[in-house]
Amino acid sequence: MKLVIGNDHVAVEMKQEIKAYLEEKGIEVIDVGTNSTSRFNYPVSGYKAAKLVAEGKADGGILICGTGVGISLAANKVKGIRACVCSEPYSAKLSKQHNNSNMIAFGARVIGIETAKMIVDEWLNASYEGERHQIRVDMIAEIEETGHLAVAEK
Ligand code: RB5
Repeated sequence: MKLVIGNDHVAVEMKQEIKAYLEEKGIEVIDVGTNSTSRFNYPVSGYKAAKLVAEGKADGGILICGTGVGISLAANKVKGIRACVCSEPYSAKLSKQHNNSNMIAFGARVIGIETAKMIVDEWLNASYEGERHQIRVDMIAEIEETGHLAVAEK
């Protein structure tokens, strides 16, 4: 498995710890974030990470900024990306099972490293359940593709 990780300047330490945690599990990690605490604009790493996932060059991605919000907003602008901000493991697991999330995000100013590891583990161990969820994921894709959701405009 190959994952991409992206971060900004407030999440350097957490990024490094999560990267090492993944590598200990034998997961290859592409790091597109910064390793400096100088100001770094989170859309840069959010976009780079999202592109690698959308193009199939990474199997998924982890995004970390102060809150996880800005970097996930940037990633979600890339077609095909479903990046979910999670501050606890339950949402991380369900984001994969129900929403087929291909990236997760969290905030270095919001959660601690042990919660971050639990979030990563739950997300990695979960599988998309498809079936009844697919129609909803398809609706999200329709909005992304066309700017409309036909069923809601009747
Ligand atoms: C940086 O100060 C901060 O805005 C950023 O890390 C993130 O929280 C944005 O959503």
